[in-house]
Amino acid sequence: MNTKNNSSAALTLDEAGLSAARKSLSDGAITPAYGPHRDAIVKLLNDALATELVCVLRYKRHYFMASGVSSPRIAEEFLVHANEESAHADRIARRIVQLGGEPDFSPDTLLQRSHADYDASNDLQTMVRVNLIAERIAVEAYRQMIALIGDKDPTTRRLLEDVLADEEEHADELKDWLEK
Ligand SMILES: [Fe+2]
Ligand SMILES: [Fe+2]
Repeated sequence: MNTKNNSSAALTLDEAGLSAARKSLSDGAITPAYGPHRDAIVKLLNDALATELVCVLRYKRHYFMASGVSSPRIAEEFLVHANEESAHADRIARRIVQLGGEPDFSPDTLLQRSHADYDASNDLQTMVRVNLIAERIAVEAYRQMIALIGDKDPTTRRLLEDVLADEEEHADELKDWLEK
């Protein structure tokens, strides 16, 4: 019996990778171990960025319209969500740049790239309902992105897990409003 297989295997770092990390300084945080998925991950992140920006616009419209129909509490909720979606957009854009990509803020293609929809309804019940739908779409999209990224990029995955937790909270809050 070969006892060698039973002894623990040595864990050694890849020397070629380490020495390559000393070069290509313009790649910043992206080192050789990053793997071949950078463009695909930047594309996923840009679609997520578009989704967040559309959500900011939808919540802003709802905030101002709900304030108009004198529903200050739900209006405030919409504003809180708008600001949190905006913070998500900023974190995602920052990560895209860190990966050597370019964040796409182009208004021309925002809706095509977004997973969630814009909405221009005027009644409160409909606003809450469409926001709940948008949040559920965001939750599903982030879950799928996290599964796709897996171990390919732990930093991006952690970022998306943070965002997902916020979207789940948003969906929960809207569900409570819908039931009121
Ligand atoms: Fe968000
Ligand atoms: Fe959200």
